[in-house]
Amino acid sequence: MNQRSTVDDAASDGAGPVPSLLDAVQRAFSTRFGAPPAWIVRAPGRVNLIGEHTDYNGGFVLPMAIERAAWIALRARDDGQVIVHSLDFAAEVRFDVSHPERGGAAWGEYIKGSASVLGSAGHQLTGWEGVLASDVPIGAGLSSSAAIELATLRAFAAVSALAWQPASMARLAQRAENEWVGVNCGIMDQMISAMGSEGHAVLIDCRSLDVAPVPLPAGLVVVILDTGTRRGLVDSAYNERRRQCEDAASFFGVRALRDVTPEAFAARADALDPVAMRRARHVITENARTLAAADAMRHADALALGQLMNASHDSLRADFEVSSVALDVMVEIARAQAGCHGARMTGAGFGGCAVALVDGSQGARFAREVGATYRHRTSTTPQVYLTGASEGTAIVPSTDW
Ligand code: GLA
Repeated sequence: MNQRSTVDDAASDGAGPVPSLLDAVQRAFSTRFGAPPAWIVRAPGRVNLIGEHTDYNGGFVLPMAIERAAWIALRARDDGQVIVHSLDFAAEVRFDVSHPERGGAAWGEYIKGSASVLGSAGHQLTGWEGVLASDVPIGAGLSSSAAIELATLRAFAAVSALAWQPASMARLAQRAENEWVGVNCGIMDQMISAMGSEGHAVLIDCRSLDVAPVPLPAGLVVVILDTGTRRGLVDSAYNERRRQCEDAASFFGVRALRDVTPEAFAARADALDPVAMRRARHVITENARTLAAADAMRHADALALGQLMNASHDSLRADFEVSSVALDVMVEIARAQAGCHGARMTGAGFGGCAVALVDGSQGARFAREVGATYRHRTSTTPQVYLTGASEGTAIVPSTDW
């Protein structure tokens, strides 16, 4: 298993072949602990094709797991200690599995938070020692934290002989994020990291957690366009959007905006205050676009899918107000390229990444052109990744290493 495609390497910064993180964690484990690991686990980051700010409204999302992922090589310990060395930070986190305590580097908090929620859910946990490495960029909106949480949960499930139920584990990972780390996210990132499907996006009903893999149409490539901008205010703006959506749902007398039909919305929209009206309009139309996008993918209709992605961006910009100048510029540049069917911001917004749907034959040229034009217009060098859809969180078969 290779964690990055060759097109990805060709499209990024031309730095040459990327060493496999699988090899890296395996070798580092053996050097550090003097024996090969008992398991290697992998949990991917994600990019969302469409269905933004719908998950916490009980709605639909259509993300895919990407080739970038967090990897842990590990073996059990019999003294209840958890010791994890991060290759990315050249640092270690160490705690008692039954008494994780808050405090320390963010990457370690995802590990402790995951241990804590497993313990609170009543699982008997075994300690372990391991080496962690990830190539999901941090803070870019590609779910680097969900990848570490799911890799950690997979590691605990392996050493503690827990049944691996991806949706339950995704819920636990979300709890770790909500309750331990203190980020009030929805369920999308953890679900897709847990349940990704090679070659497929996954339509997720964020209320029932029903999932339907939808094949990526042949001949198309998904391109992630990192604006290089990071915004510090994401948390408060995110929480404010959540509150506005909840207020709009109670105005309509329903549990969540998922339950408001376009007709019910149209009948009473005028009575809402203008901001709540625009927030609700985004969520209600985005849910419809997401279902339509899954249908378009099933019919390999790239034109329709691209148009839905474009409409999603416009709604996020004008109605939900979570885009940014950098994201708008990136999307505009992407859409102007030959072979681009559609482009939109992806993730929470305010910075981070856009995603584009591009003819496979044009992918490398698209990446070069967008990179050069964005650099010219903003004086910032973007990261551009062509990515396939990868498998969700799993133990790497020992035949692969
Ligand atoms: C972040 C959150 C997700 C989701 C998106 C917006 O990625 O973690 O739960 O709400 O923003 O769609």
